[in-house]
Amino acid sequence: MLPAALLMRADLPDQLFSPAGRARLDRLLALDTWTSWADASPTALRRTELLVTGWGCPRVGAAELADLPRLRAVVHTGGSVKDLLDPAVWARGIRVTSSARANAVPVADYTVAMVLLAGKNVLAAAARYRHTLDRRALLTGYPETGNADRTVGLLGASRVGRLVAARLSGLGFRLLCHDPYLDADDARRLGVRPVSLDRLFAEASIVSLHAPLTPDTAGLVGAAELALMPDGGTLINTARAGLLDQDALLVHLRGGRLSAVLDVTDPEPLPLDHPLRELPNVLITPHVAGAQGTELRRLGDQAVQEVERFVDGRPPADPVLAERLPFLA
Ligand SMILES: NC(=O)c1ccc[n+]([C@@H]2O[C@H](COP(=O)([O-])OP(=O)(O)OC[C@H]3O[C@@H](n4cnc5c(N)ncnc54)[C@H](O)[C@@H]3O)[C@@H](O)[C@H]2O)c1
Repeated sequence: MLPAALLMRADLPDQLFSPAGRARLDRLLALDTWTSWADASPTALRRTELLVTGWGCPRVGAAELADLPRLRAVVHTGGSVKDLLDPAVWARGIRVTSSARANAVPVADYTVAMVLLAGKNVLAAAARYRHTLDRRALLTGYPETGNADRTVGLLGASRVGRLVAARLSGLGFRLLCHDPYLDADDARRLGVRPVSLDRLFAEASIVSLHAPLTPDTAGLVGAAELALMPDGGTLINTARAGLLDQDALLVHLRGGRLSAVLDVTDPEPLPLDHPLRELPNVLITPHVAGAQGTELRRLGDQAVQEVERFVDGRPPADPVLAERLPFLA
């Protein structure tokens, strides 16, 4: 059996792994369980060949790597390894995988739910309905309401963006996508029309952000892009707050011209007296679009499959490659 360690928050393994999944791991790996480096003896570190990492685990920095001379693989049960692993991991040829593909599923589900609610103007209607009995006045106030014949813009044909596209095209939406890395064939297969950033915001009444936060995408959605959005439009952000000029968005939200669904904010959480919290046309959720509760088993299942592939000498299903580092979410 391969000497290995689970390195994550103490309560996480039971949520990630079903009894069957845990049994599959235990068949292949001689597993230690660590929540911090202090739990690992020098001898255990020296023999460990594989780490199964998860939320709450300490960073694998250059110093820790030096103590792990036999390490050959890191199987991360979460989505993002950007803050977890020192670049020296890749330099040493250590195989890295993540469960970002499994984590994209609930984010796409959440996004589709929010698109459907936004298309029906549910947020604003529900807020007004608290204070009026006149249902008719509410309905006539929203002539553009409805999910028929609607154009949705996706920023990023990322793992999440692609799943959202697949789900929404099945529901009959017209889809635009801005992604400098998306080629025409790929766009056709996805059922999206590739457009410039400006056209995305000018033509879609609902725009959903799915790009990773990188030096190229930081602040990509600014005052100019938001000003292009049609009146009554909705911006959905499940990606990262840094993609967006939140203050510029606030101006449009305060005036009631746009609505927003924000699963990520800057800072996170927003202070209780933050003006975004007061607005009836804004839905703020506490970074819950990614895997929660029952969805964690999907992350664990993907990790178990990656461990099996590694032990069997098969290539990884979802490698995190060194050349992808600049794009990492
Ligand atoms: N809210 C949550 O709980 C949650 C959970 C998971 C992921 N996320 C976020 O969702 C976003 C998507 O995650 P993912 O795993 O699908 O990302 P990903 O790693 O698949 O994204 C990489 C892709 O983004 C696209 N991209 C790169 N630069 C771009 C640019 N300038 N403009 C448009 N597209 C560009 C490219 O197609 C690239 O291949 C990320 O921001 C991630 O942090 C949030």
